[in-house]
Amino acid sequence: MNQHTLAIAEVIPSTEEPFVAAMEVIESVEVDYDQIGGLEEQIQELQEAVELPLIDPERFVRIGIEPPKGVLLYGLPGTGKTLLAKAVAHRTNATFIRVVGSELVQKYIGDGSKLVREIFEMARKKAPSIIFIDELDSIAARRLNETTGADREVQRTLMQLLAEMDGFDKRKNIRIIAATNRPDVLDPAILRPGRFDRLVHVPMPGVEARGKILKIHCDGMTLAGEIDFKKLAKATEGMSGADLKAIATEAGMFAIRKDKELVEMGDFLEAVAKVSVAADTQKMMPGIPPETTMFV
Ligand SMILES: Nc1ncnc2c1ncn2[C@@H]1O[C@H](COP(=O)(O)OP(=O)(O)OP(=O)(O)O)[C@@H](O)[C@H]1O
Ligand SMILES: [Mg+2]
Repeated sequence: MNQHTLAIAEVIPSTEEPFVAAMEVIESVEVDYDQIGGLEEQIQELQEAVELPLIDPERFVRIGIEPPKGVLLYGLPGTGKTLLAKAVAHRTNATFIRVVGSELVQKYIGDGSKLVREIFEMARKKAPSIIFIDELDSIAARRLNETTGADREVQRTLMQLLAEMDGFDKRKNIRIIAATNRPDVLDPAILRPGRFDRLVHVPMPGVEARGKILKIHCDGMTLAGEIDFKKLAKATEGMSGADLKAIATEAGMFAIRKDKELVEMGDFLEAVAKVSVAADTQKMMPGIPPETTMFV
């Protein structure tokens, strides 16, 4: 509820499992590949490693190879890793179980490993399913020498994850996708064959992809006819997909502020300037989440 007006803001889904709050079970996801700009190779890799084994497992049996169990998406923040995982889930009609590593560690102190067990159990029950572990680095960072209680707890969670991954049959209809923007800190154990043995790099968008991403996020906006997407793509060098989405929103905001009915090229140029300042601030103060700096 809204704290001031007491209006209902959101309806929390009913929970059947005690820990369901920590994972999001999404039975059908509304993101499709056509909402992803660029990343064609990455989409193809995911199709081969995740989609195909779920849709047509027999094919792998006939050829006599085992599909990879786990795919790790890595790349800078805002490049579309979470988006990619959702799109795959949409295509396969699989149950999509999303767990966020940092939440697992922070909210379920002492219960992390139990939760990991429950997640895999639920995945088996609702198969075919995709387990998506976002922010994998928070549970799978390289083990340091420090042995505080919290560290030991994170380690136990990780050990449980490794055990679960080792324990299930590759040909069963469960796939695991993980994402991280800190591949450098990962424990090498997690990358061993039979675990996350397929690494997919999600790069920053090139000029062509930036144009496509902008168009995707402008879909549904009422634009003046003269929008030069090529020019905008060139002017947004170094920006991520998330930055480009912010540009579309900001351009709309500028148009609203000027009381216009159409969003014009000038609004986009102002938005580019504003978002690049915000992106720079973000780089200088990496602790502050982008949504805080992006819209001030
Ligand atoms: N290639 C893309 N095409 C279209 N939209 C994109 C693309 N990349 C990012 N976006 C937009 O940016 C938003 C954030 O992207 P996403 O959450 O997938 O980033 P991420 O790679 O998971 O980042 P992080 O490492 O911070 O978790 C998406 O919801 C989407 O709207
Ligand atoms: Mg993400």
